[in-house]
Amino acid sequence: MPDSYRRIEVEPLTPGIGATVHGVDLGTPLEDDVVEEIHDAWMRHLVLFMRDQHMSSERHLAFGRRFGELHIHPAAPYAHNEPALMVIHTDKDSHRNNGSGWHSDVSADEEPPLGSILHLHEVPSQGGDTLFANMYAAYESLSEPMRAFLDGLTARHESDYAGYYGDHPPQRDFPRASHPVVRTHPVTGRKALYVNAGFTRRIEGLSRAEGAALLGFLFEHVKNPAFQCRFRWEPYSLAMWDNRCVQHMAVWDYFPNTRSGFRVTVKGDRPYH
Ligand code: SIN
Repeated sequence: MPDSYRRIEVEPLTPGIGATVHGVDLGTPLEDDVVEEIHDAWMRHLVLFMRDQHMSSERHLAFGRRFGELHIHPAAPYAHNEPALMVIHTDKDSHRNNGSGWHSDVSADEEPPLGSILHLHEVPSQGGDTLFANMYAAYESLSEPMRAFLDGLTARHESDYAGYYGDHPPQRDFPRASHPVVRTHPVTGRKALYVNAGFTRRIEGLSRAEGAALLGFLFEHVKNPAFQCRFRWEPYSLAMWDNRCVQHMAVWDYFPNTRSGFRVTVKGDRPYH
């Protein structure tokens, strides 16, 4: 993957995760070589940010499709009669925000989303940041014996959205799946920790107490600020993260203010060791 780009400008936010991309207008169709450079930068920096993107929902969906087939969330509300256009909205009537704990999007799917592309139209004047954590770094910072132990393990992921989205009827059954605790990224070939507090319920083959202790340790481990970057939103900012090697959480510190936009999510493949 190149360090220099011909069509876009890439400004890293931290050495390990996150970069701002300049020189792209998502309001217009993108040429193939621009999409290729965005993809290269995405694989290198894990999460990309773009500011001042005045694009329609159609363009947002079209941008997502440049990276693969779109994913339909099992239960979240969607807009414009388009199930792939997930609504992310919090205001004075909200009782919770979406994604407030560390997670990888819908990891309970058999083939979890490879990436998510969030575009916010309205943001609070303070707060509402999103935190992202690098799961390659989380894996690589473990001791060699611990990495060897985790490498062979499989974990159970389960979702339960009952009541989570109010009266909105679910799109499909709530997914459940078993995935490797450490997955190999299909593009970069690097190993990433793939358990998250949002969906991972137990480690297969370990006793309940052993699995709970191990997951408790890993859920704390991934919170190390050294693995993270933090994004401060402005109206019409966009963030795109790679769910295969990133966990994220959305901070709800702006009640009763409004934070609103849409997420387009791209289908992934079945994780492997
Ligand atoms: C999510 O997709 O988990 C929500 C992220 C955010 O609202 O910042």
